[in-house]
Amino acid sequence: MHLINFKELTEQDLNTLIDLAIETKQNPEKFLKTLEGKSTALIFQKTSTRTRVSFEVAMTQLGGHALYIDWKSTNFTLADISDETQSLSRHVDCIMARLLYNSDLQKMASASRVPIINGCDEKYHPSQILADLITIKEKHGKLTGTKLVYIGVHNNVTNSLIEAAIKTGIKITTVTPIFNNAARDEELLLAAKKSGLWESTLDVKNAIKNSDFVYTDTWIDMEFFTDPKFETEKNNRINLMMPYQINLELLGNSNAYIMHDMPIHRGYEISEEAINSPRSVIYQQTENRLHAAKAIYLKLMTKNYPVR
Ligand code: CP
Repeated sequence: MHLINFKELTEQDLNTLIDLAIETKQNPEKFLKTLEGKSTALIFQKTSTRTRVSFEVAMTQLGGHALYIDWKSTNFTLADISDETQSLSRHVDCIMARLLYNSDLQKMASASRVPIINGCDEKYHPSQILADLITIKEKHGKLTGTKLVYIGVHNNVTNSLIEAAIKTGIKITTVTPIFNNAARDEELLLAAKKSGLWESTLDVKNAIKNSDFVYTDTWIDMEFFTDPKFETEKNNRINLMMPYQINLELLGNSNAYIMHDMPIHRGYEISEEAINSPRSVIYQQTENRLHAAKAIYLKLMTKNYPVR
């Protein structure tokens, strides 16, 4: 089994994964040798802090070994992705890949003899959202019926949040004046509409009212943020999105917890004051990446914690 997005997981699978992650956090000693003798390849086409560190440290704390591989330094750059994946998957027990394109990840999944974990592509970011679900459950005690508002650009994180919400009974409202076309997944949005758990609006103040969590993410994908070729588009986006910045004025009297998956662009999608607010759970989210990574490994790599 692979973890490309949440489509393959039932509601029960996802809830079990969240509870397993919380168990690894509360009782890490129990899992110290679970993956002894196992190896994972962590392969990156893009930069990363949290995904790289959490999946590497998680493997160490489960008794196994993780290899960090920079895509640019490998023969993936020269050869067929399926051949290279076949080869890699005969040396390791799992592959976590951060690739630019979901289509390449699908090719990897088809060729691999071992589980493939999506470490974020242009469409989905499941390991981040698992950490977010852990955080919501820790702060709010439950997922079903929780009201989450996502404010920003509709992107890969938004898709995975919507996927997770309709599986766990979270009521999600998205306030997204811009839609990243690369992230478009009509099938997901249709399913979300049918579920009755997702709504989309531009009335940001009303959306925040009565919400339990307010979530934002970068307005510009990380590979473009400092790219001079993207400068005009970046400035257009900043102008359009500034009224949607998460700040104390926008939040008003709301008691909602403030979420961000990081990296943060301070002063753009979120203000300094909102990051430092007592309602901010941003650093708890990032801490939970480790526990999310452990649960994903355990589900995909051991017989004791099967998803199904
Ligand atoms: N949130 C997240 O995926 O962080 P990195 O890009 O640093 O891995």
